[in-house]
Amino acid sequence: MEVIRTVSWMKEAARQARAENHLVGLVPTMGALHEGHMTLVRRAKQECSRVFVSVFVNPKQFGPREDLAKYPRSLDSDAAKLEAAGVDLLFAPAPAEIYPPGFATYIAVEGISEGLEGGSRPGHFRGVATVVAKLFQIAQPNFAYFGRKDAQQARIVTRMTRDLDIDVEPVVCDIVREADGLACSSRNAYLNPEERRAATVLYRGLEAARRQIARGERVALEISEEVRRVLGQEKLARADYVEVVDADTFEPAARLGGRAAYVLLAVFIGGTRLIDNLLVAPEPGSDRLVVTL
Ligand code: PAJ
Repeated sequence: MEVIRTVSWMKEAARQARAENHLVGLVPTMGALHEGHMTLVRRAKQECSRVFVSVFVNPKQFGPREDLAKYPRSLDSDAAKLEAAGVDLLFAPAPAEIYPPGFATYIAVEGISEGLEGGSRPGHFRGVATVVAKLFQIAQPNFAYFGRKDAQQARIVTRMTRDLDIDVEPVVCDIVREADGLACSSRNAYLNPEERRAATVLYRGLEAARRQIARGERVALEISEEVRRVLGQEKLARADYVEVVDADTFEPAARLGGRAAYVLLAVFIGGTRLIDNLLVAPEPGSDRLVVTL
């Protein structure tokens, strides 16, 4: 596996792959790789003839009081995992490569960036959209792989590629979970054993929503109330938001049915903020709903 640290070398490698008519898949990450990331890598391996992975803890998507300094960094073990998975190229630039002095241009995806994660983390999606656009420019992939765990991020990236005529096809993959249901996340490393047990409450909340939907509940407020009730049973948990939104616009949805929707939640477990969601999609040709956790 080739390891590249500079933008100019990465551009050269991208040019070469395209000149050789490869189908290139890019998996953008911030490292501290877990099964969620590796599932994106395996999907890219299945669909592309060259797989690039970027590891870059993007300072522009962290707020001033967020965890940039303590975000887990483990490039050597990340590289070993990627090598074993058959990745062709690891792009791991230093911050000054991506943001040289004088850097001043940002991408704002209006509307869908503003609430939920964007509401709780001002500037976060501006940082995400900007770095993802830069990674697309630098690595020139045909496909780019994202996880549904960050559903709003995935939607913003899809919107951005359409709006800016970027020739990259985003692919959104399902959520990978630990055995007890907790969604894999680099931030799970912050949890102490007691918090780790408490963190399953996100999944328990979403399971309660799924049961309600299966019983025929369609009113968004009833579903989010039920999720809040389950979250309220866990002493170490404090809900930041619980929302039912349209999967396309990320506007609040009053009822389920007709259009795809997400039940989205962000929860503090002690000092660690975790997110999770379930997808509710109408089954084509029937009035049944398919729920994916
Ligand atoms: P990071 O949190 O490292 O996640 C990289 C990718 O892995 C994202 O697309 C994310 O949705 C996906 N992912 C994380 N946990 C997952 C899980 N449990 N199941 C499935 N996919 C999962 O998201 C980012 O980095 C950054 O914002 C980035 C897009 C790299 C831009 O800096």
